[in-house]
Amino acid sequence: MIVGVPKEIYPGERRVALTPAVIPLLAKAGLEVLLEAGAGERAGYPDVQYQEKGAKILPERGAVFAQSEIVVQVLSHGANDKTGANDLSLMRPGQVLIGFLRPLGSPDSVQQVAKTGVSAYAMELMPRTTRAQSMDALSSMASIAGYKAVVVVANELPRIFPMMTTAAGTITPSRILVIGAGVAGLQAIATAKRLGAVVSAYDVRPAVKEQIQSLGGRFVELPLETGSAQDAGGYAKAQDEAFYVRQRELLGNVIAESDSVITTAAVPGKKAPVLVTEAMVKRMPPGSVILDLAAERGGNCELTRAGERVQVHGVTILGPINLAGSAPYHASQMYAKNLTTFLQNLVKDGKVRPPESDEIIRDTLLTQGGELVNARVRESMGLPALVAQ
Ligand code: NAI
Repeated sequence: MIVGVPKEIYPGERRVALTPAVIPLLAKAGLEVLLEAGAGERAGYPDVQYQEKGAKILPERGAVFAQSEIVVQVLSHGANDKTGANDLSLMRPGQVLIGFLRPLGSPDSVQQVAKTGVSAYAMELMPRTTRAQSMDALSSMASIAGYKAVVVVANELPRIFPMMTTAAGTITPSRILVIGAGVAGLQAIATAKRLGAVVSAYDVRPAVKEQIQSLGGRFVELPLETGSAQDAGGYAKAQDEAFYVRQRELLGNVIAESDSVITTAAVPGKKAPVLVTEAMVKRMPPGSVILDLAAERGGNCELTRAGERVQVHGVTILGPINLAGSAPYHASQMYAKNLTTFLQNLVKDGKVRPPESDEIIRDTLLTQGGELVNARVRESMGLPALVAQ
């Protein structure tokens, strides 16, 4: 089977879906790679490296779609909400499409993808199981984003992170608060610790307390009822507004004592909860920095503007989008490994395995035969369950 890698077309996107290193692994699984010329260049992988590993290069995007049974992308239509629709006319019934498709947050584009007749697999729907860990691209990208968030904050703060005892006096370490200790948050804690900051972290899921402490962070305990904070998949559950009001009250004091707050709190398929209000921002020391990793999903700070830098009450609020994409070499390396493991599981003896045969295939399959077939996504859109599922 032929796997096509078109160039990413989201403005400014530098990642690529497959790297040269995975081509031999795919060849072993009976998969040949076709690359749109220059697809890997911005990530640091020139065409010649793909050719050396046996990939074919085609100059025309349309030809890559036309000649591939499977098309792999980083940001497909949906996740690419700017230019992704340009690819719809290139997709054909029965073709396999794998990428980020934002299945729980862009109902219209999901329906448009369904209408093309492709069998689309959304990387966001990967189950959080041990077997699927090596295919979990959300976690890969979150790890990079968490690391990068700290690097950006370190550069932005008018302070340094570590304690320093010098002839010119002693400098106290910066105090960093991480809200939301999932994959990105834990990586942010580890990175800030490595740079010498004093790190505190809070999460609505009490299960993360040990993980925070094992990285050298202080777990911020808030007297809140969190018995039902976590769903069966390990994700945070949405709470009612009274909970969020109380949470903001309690968090206010911790935030006021922090030089920087990095927020990552998300609830799948929902707008991110607002945890940092303008009143809380006002209480932060001048020159503080908030980096809101949930900016794309509405933001955890009410002053965040996605993709922008806002300055209010002497505090800088950053709402970067696609931080993982700002380290395209390693982000692509991890994504390519995730995709390759996924493909090795999906294709057996030159055929795509049916969803009934495997939990990972069933959970990630979003559209097939012109229909939106994913049970979780149908439910989130209020559509009736399909009888065949
Ligand atoms: P996420 O990106 O959906 O959310 C980030 C964090 O924000 C989560 O830890 C969540 O609990 C927290 N959060 C949500 N609402 C909050 C609030 N009101 N206040 C404070 N914090 C709030 O989460 P991510 O990073 O995708 O991880 C979700 C879960 O999946 C975790 O339990 C993680 O350990 C688990 N996981 C399991 C994997 C596996 O077993 N294969 C792989 C990756 C993650």
